[in-house]
Amino acid sequence: MQDLASKRIVLGLTGGIACYKSAELLRRMQDQGATVDVVMTDAARQFITPVTMQALSGRPVYAEAWDARVPNNMAHIELTRGAAAVLVAPASADFLAKLAHGMADDLLSTLCLARACPLLVAPAMNREMWANPAVQRNVAQLRADGVAVLGPGTGSQACGETGDGRMLEPHELLEDLVAFFQPKVLAGRRVLLTAGPTAEPIDPVRVLSNRSSGKMGYALARAAREAGAEVTLVSGPTALPAPRGVAVLPVGTAHQMRDAVMANVRDADLFIAVAAVADWRARNASTQKLKKTADSGPPVLEFEANPDILAEVAALPDGPWCVGFAAETENLDAYAEAKRRRKRLPLLVGNLAQAAMEADATELVLYDDAGRHALPAMAKLDAARRLIAEIADRMERA
Ligand code: C5P
Repeated sequence: MQDLASKRIVLGLTGGIACYKSAELLRRMQDQGATVDVVMTDAARQFITPVTMQALSGRPVYAEAWDARVPNNMAHIELTRGAAAVLVAPASADFLAKLAHGMADDLLSTLCLARACPLLVAPAMNREMWANPAVQRNVAQLRADGVAVLGPGTGSQACGETGDGRMLEPHELLEDLVAFFQPKVLAGRRVLLTAGPTAEPIDPVRVLSNRSSGKMGYALARAAREAGAEVTLVSGPTALPAPRGVAVLPVGTAHQMRDAVMANVRDADLFIAVAAVADWRARNASTQKLKKTADSGPPVLEFEANPDILAEVAALPDGPWCVGFAAETENLDAYAEAKRRRKRLPLLVGNLAQAAMEADATELVLYDDAGRHALPAMAKLDAARRLIAEIADRMERA
């Protein structure tokens, strides 16, 4: 599903070199189904032309307060009525100051003052400007007024300096914008998750692992953060980028995963174990690389059981609300429910491993005290959002 489907968003550009990124941002918003109306200040038009934004958006670009294309010359009113949000990106120090003081001397500032929808701003400026107490004062005021401040990021700046104040990258702004619209069903909750496979050494260069991609666990971490939670993700080796705003703790073995979970579990309200933890590890792993020699045959591995992280967390007195996953290749209902009872979980999520592992879509079945509840097949991020809603609902009732 497109994350901004049927939403009209007003994208405001103010004066800053980061305007060149706003063209890309507009495209990414459209990819997610948004209709975008662009409003530019005079200063923004020094950096990028209305022609560029008009060609990309496929809609008129607005710059003047007295625009005859809008009924009654009321662009400052008409543009935000029915809009899902106004996003000002880049938001210059000057524009933030205007917003903080309720000034309205051009179309964009007037429209922000007259809006009837949420306002998000993506500051973009030199690091000294960003650190200036006047700017910080204005930003604090805007936050207090309910304006969402996205970023800024940190790194090298167009002026040649390095520090805080860069506008977030278009994909980061898109992720934050999408998150803004998600229901905050886990606001104030702390969520701990495991994701991905574990890798158990055979020798210093070889490991035993599995086909888990980590996609479902990462999608759930993102969905939990979108729902307003503070999220820590203990991750086995994956190729996935860290979801925005999520603290990722990378681990290799099941033992390392267990230690990272136990070190963080005391603070958690909710624990979701998505990782495909290796059930066994080699007891006789070699400290040196195993060599092929003519006379010795292949190595013989002996195994011992790994700790069951989820069962250990679920058994903690005053522990978090626990959710387990079960990927099975057959007998899903019987195995999943047996697992839920053995580990004493309020909720276990099952899926067929053949369909889910490495794939972008999944079909989940929920098992709880009330029985079995199948969800339709959907993309993992949509399934993750749905699951977070189901979990929040059950936590609320618990
Ligand atoms: O025991 P089994 O692997 O079938 O159960 C799967 C669930 O238990 C998953 O939620 C998985 O993350 C968790 N698990 C665990 N530690 C293990 C094995 C599984 O946390 N050693």
